[in-house]
Amino acid sequence: MHRRTLILAAGAAALLAAVPGAQAQEAVKVGLILPLTGPFTAIGRQVETGARLYMQQHGDTVAGKKIELIVKDDGGVADATKRTAQELIVNDKVDVLAGFGLTPLALATAPLATQAKVPMVVMAAGTATITEASPFIVRTSFTLPQATEPMADWAAKNGIKKVTTLVSDYGPGIDAEKAFTGVFTKAGGQVESLRVPLANPDFSPFLQKVADAKPDALFVFVPAGQGAQFMKQFVERGFDKSGIKLIGPGDVTDDEVLNNMGDVALGAITTHHYSAAHDSPENKSFVEAFKKASNGTRPNFMGVGGYDGMHLIYEGLKKTNGQGGQALIDAMKGMSWTSPRGPVSIDPQTRDIVQNIYVRKVERKDGELYNVEFATIPNVKDPVKAAKSN
Ligand code: DHB
Repeated sequence: MHRRTLILAAGAAALLAAVPGAQAQEAVKVGLILPLTGPFTAIGRQVETGARLYMQQHGDTVAGKKIELIVKDDGGVADATKRTAQELIVNDKVDVLAGFGLTPLALATAPLATQAKVPMVVMAAGTATITEASPFIVRTSFTLPQATEPMADWAAKNGIKKVTTLVSDYGPGIDAEKAFTGVFTKAGGQVESLRVPLANPDFSPFLQKVADAKPDALFVFVPAGQGAQFMKQFVERGFDKSGIKLIGPGDVTDDEVLNNMGDVALGAITTHHYSAAHDSPENKSFVEAFKKASNGTRPNFMGVGGYDGMHLIYEGLKKTNGQGGQALIDAMKGMSWTSPRGPVSIDPQTRDIVQNIYVRKVERKDGELYNVEFATIPNVKDPVKAAKSN
């Protein structure tokens, strides 16, 4: 009797001890923080749709653990991103932070990822230095210098001698301006630089300066979604008939808004890592599934950043058998796969994505406007960090 009671008591104690622990171990929590209200909602929606689509296609169990996605809106405001990340770490005990629609949102959160040793997957933001802000950051989007240097090369080799750059006045815009100017002036080109505020930009006074300068090309960086407003003012001022060529990284002709821009966009040359028209079986099925999941919205480069970010989390967890923290970030280093955008890998030194950059021209295809790829620069690393390590 005595013995039986002891065994029962021991069994009950083990059960009590096991239950909360077991629950914590069975789920892997991913906190996805995105702008889902405010002026950058389109970015958040793309990333969320991409991430959810990946989970829908690959199931919600990895290495025997359930993946629990917790989606939070930061309204595109850095203080809100940071506060939300803190709550997700402390209250929800998330294993992974993900999302980050704009550079300031990623930079505000980086110290928390370092302190808590929580991997932080940057799926959208593009300033080169972001991955240096924490050893726990890994990125599946792109860097502006990575996407931009091939644009400067192309311009220099295609008879463009004088360029005005017009960029949003914050991290990625300044990165784009510097990357373009560096390569283009070295090749003998001439550059005049203009910067426009990020919030509620009015492009007209800047476009007046461009009209006065009469460059061969206007190089533009605006974040995803703002291209529509830019193009409207561009055509209102008659630039489509000015002979001034429109060039830039592909953010200005992002695939979600491109089709509504009209003929003004035709002929724009951009360099970028993703086009909805990318010709591969992986991309054809991605575009089709994304449209089905989003009432016909086309994926743009933000959507593919969310999709690939979830892939990286899933494959990393498979390698660690569901463990997070340092082991997970280490497992992600060096990983390579075939994305809808083409072949990609995570640079083990910088934790940044290595990917093809494509030169594209806006053309009408099957009645719709697309960025049609016509040249490929393979396996491009972020040039800013590559220069530091040389
Ligand atoms: C960033 C945001 C964008 O929408 C974009 O197209 C590129 C970069 C950023 O804030 O990092």
